[in-house]
Amino acid sequence: MRNPLILLYLAALLSIASRHHAHFTSAQTLAAERYAPTLQQCPTGIALVRNVGSDPHAQTLSAAEENYVQSRKANILPGAWFDYYVNVHKTTWELLPLYVADILLGSLGYDVLPNIGIATSGGGLRAALFGAGVLNALDGRNQTSAGAGMGGLLQAAQYLSGLSGGSWLVSSLSQADFPLLHDLMFGSGALQGSQFGGWLMNIDLLQPGPNANSTEVFLESLIGEVSLKFAEGFPVTVSDIWARTLARHYVNGTTASNFNDGDSPHGAGITLSSVPNLSSFQNFAQPFPIIIANSITDRPNPSGVLNESDVVIPLANPIYEFNVFEMGSFDPSLGAFTPTKYLGSPNSSMCASGFDQIAFVEAVSSNLFNTFNTSEAALNASPIGIIIEGINEVMPQSGIRLDSAQIPNPFVGLAANTFPDTDSALLTLVDGGEDGETTPFQPLLVKARGIDTIIAIDAPADTEDNFADGSSLIATQDRVKALGSAYAFPPVPSTQAEFLAQNLTKRPTFFGCNSSAASGEPLVIYIANGGPPLGQAPVTNTPTMQLSYTADEAQAVLNQVYDIATQGIPVAGADGGLEKDPQWSACLACAVVDRTRRTLGMSRATICLSCFERYCWS
Ligand SMILES: *[C@@H]1O[C@H](CO)[C@@H](O)[C@H](O)[C@H]1NC(C)=O
Ligand SMILES: *[C@@H]1O[C@H](CO)[C@@H](O)[C@H](O)[C@H]1NC(C)=O
Ligand SMILES: *[C@@H]1O[C@H](CO)[C@@H](O)[C@H](O)[C@H]1NC(C)=O
Ligand SMILES: *[C@@H]1O[C@H](CO)[C@@H](O)[C@H](O)[C@H]1NC(C)=O
Ligand SMILES: *[C@@H]1O[C@H](CO)[C@@H](O)[C@H](O)[C@H]1NC(C)=O
Ligand SMILES: *[C@@H]1O[C@H](CO)[C@@H](O)[C@H](O)[C@H]1NC(C)=O
Ligand SMILES: *[C@@H]1O[C@H](CO)[C@@H](O)[C@H](O)[C@H]1NC(C)=O
Ligand SMILES: *[C@@H]1O[C@H](CO)[C@@H](O)[C@H](O)[C@H]1NC(C)=O
Ligand SMILES: *[C@@H]1O[C@H](CO)[C@@H](O)[C@H](O)[C@H]1NC(C)=O
Repeated sequence: MRNPLILLYLAALLSIASRHHAHFTSAQTLAAERYAPTLQQCPTGIALVRNVGSDPHAQTLSAAEENYVQSRKANILPGAWFDYYVNVHKTTWELLPLYVADILLGSLGYDVLPNIGIATSGGGLRAALFGAGVLNALDGRNQTSAGAGMGGLLQAAQYLSGLSGGSWLVSSLSQADFPLLHDLMFGSGALQGSQFGGWLMNIDLLQPGPNANSTEVFLESLIGEVSLKFAEGFPVTVSDIWARTLARHYVNGTTASNFNDGDSPHGAGITLSSVPNLSSFQNFAQPFPIIIANSITDRPNPSGVLNESDVVIPLANPIYEFNVFEMGSFDPSLGAFTPTKYLGSPNSSMCASGFDQIAFVEAVSSNLFNTFNTSEAALNASPIGIIIEGINEVMPQSGIRLDSAQIPNPFVGLAANTFPDTDSALLTLVDGGEDGETTPFQPLLVKARGIDTIIAIDAPADTEDNFADGSSLIATQDRVKALGSAYAFPPVPSTQAEFLAQNLTKRPTFFGCNSSAASGEPLVIYIANGGPPLGQAPVTNTPTMQLSYTADEAQAVLNQVYDIATQGIPVAGADGGLEKDPQWSACLACAVVDRTRRTLGMSRATICLSCFERYCWS
């Protein structure tokens, strides 16, 4: 990858950019179409910090989020649960216990409807595809998924969280106004001819052109775009370059035909805080999207509980979430938020806007580049060495890490005894899975959100052959234990060996079936990328660094994920081979209503008891 000529070339470009940045701005003249944030006087009376405190039982949601989820509950969820019920009932009518109907159709009141969150994991483009495949199986608008008795759960979920590759899925789905998953990925159907060309998976994320020259031209555009942010006085790192790459795949503005058009803004200026303007958001039709990132802290975290000699980010470090209204952390060490719209503000008199670009948030959540930085030599020799050197030469900045995302710290001076960045001018953020938790559970465990059931989609490359081995759930279990009473999580096996020996990654597994109400533990429905169910040749275990897929490859992955999501635990078929569990959709419905059943003091129906014997881990 390393090529001194490219370095010189970039350095020259950067110096031109810094002296005459207008030369590069032809594509991005309007503020709303530039990668650069701008500063203006803050609106009077604006609060740039909302302190939620460290007591998880006293923490509150933002008024805007509260309004969104309550409006969804009142206007959308009754119909969404009705539709899901109709689907599951069609596939399993002779098996479903009556209380499933009573709960989902509202005869016991809409207050007792289940409160579901979906978490979709990191793992690059493979994880984005795997997650999209599972969401498609849960999407009631897809007639095939409706026919399988799972469709509708996506519409009925209150929250959808993503990190890294999962953040590309969650944010692209949200900003594209919540289209069908196949249309989102391929730019087809309702998106045909629109400003969003789909994920353009056939174009490599890092090397989009046929040769090194075209990569140079591509980098030239990225650097020109990013230099605008530098010129406005904001820190610029490899995350910003990465953001401009991701924008071309996961944010509106790029199609197959304008990919190489240097005059197109390619999604520059599209912010997370603009999502509430979309009609699917105004109508409360989307689950509430949340993206997370990990942090590298200036001070060591006080928690010394865990032996983390082999992880990049200690589990106790704050996890940050980005939602369309706020950015911050519910972790008790911080417990504070800032408005997403004004992210990047230096102080409460001058406010930044346009810092919260969706592509930047995607880049923060998937910034793994710091893992190349095991030593200066290793970093220089890595694929990003050239970019770091170029940035250093022409956009010199002192005292900041260039291998991670940098965000002006809105929380300076807060929680001085527990917040490890209370003195830091900048927050240093990296890939949300670097603490080992590749599935973004944390925002769904926040007590103020009251989520009782989590559908966890897990597709990291834990094993040598790129399958999941449960590491993510083990890490979340460890973190929840380490943080005391902040969060509750059901027991899961403590070793990867146990996950694998019991095939828990190969078929859906329920955790927390027998948790007490007092424990506050959600029921977790775990759907992992552990291999194809019925003996097919595996196609879903592609490497994390595979950064392009042909349409046929992507379609093959999606087809197999559909099987994985709809299989249940395979049963012996008439011909002696394996078949999908015909009771799976009923078992899933048993799980989805089980927390409400418990609240209502009803006993588990016989069919659910037999499902839980098969699907629950104990
Ligand atoms: C519905 O899902 C199936 C299974 O993945 C897929 O083949 C089909 O194209 C999807 N239909 C739509 C309209 O997205
Ligand atoms: C993105 O494009 C889709 C399809 O044209 C459109 O419905 C949606 O409103 C756009 N979103 C934003 C944030 O511009
Ligand atoms: C790459 O650019 C160089 C210098 O402009 C040129 O000589 C060379 O032919 C180009 N290579 C390709 C494959 O286009
Ligand atoms: C969103 O809508 C509001 C109110 O209509 C408008 O003032 C604002 O400029 C819009 N924001 C974006 C980013 O489109
Ligand atoms: C911590 O774990 C590593 C391997 O993960 C092991 O080599 C080391 O001995 C452990 N240290 C302690 C203090 O347990
Ligand atoms: C706020 O930030 C602006 C821009 O960096 C700076 O010019 C101004 O002096 C700051 N104001 C205060 C009160 O710190
Ligand atoms: C590499 O990591 C060290 C800390 O281990 C940090 O000080 C340095 O700034 C990093 N290098 C870059 C280029 O980010
Ligand atoms: C796990 O699956 C393998 C075959 O895929 C099977 O032989 C083994 O018995 C299963 N183990 C358990 C505990 O179900
Ligand atoms: C749940 O409890 C029942 C009865 O107390 C027991 O039979 C079952 O094995 C337990 N299941 C799990 C998953 O712990």
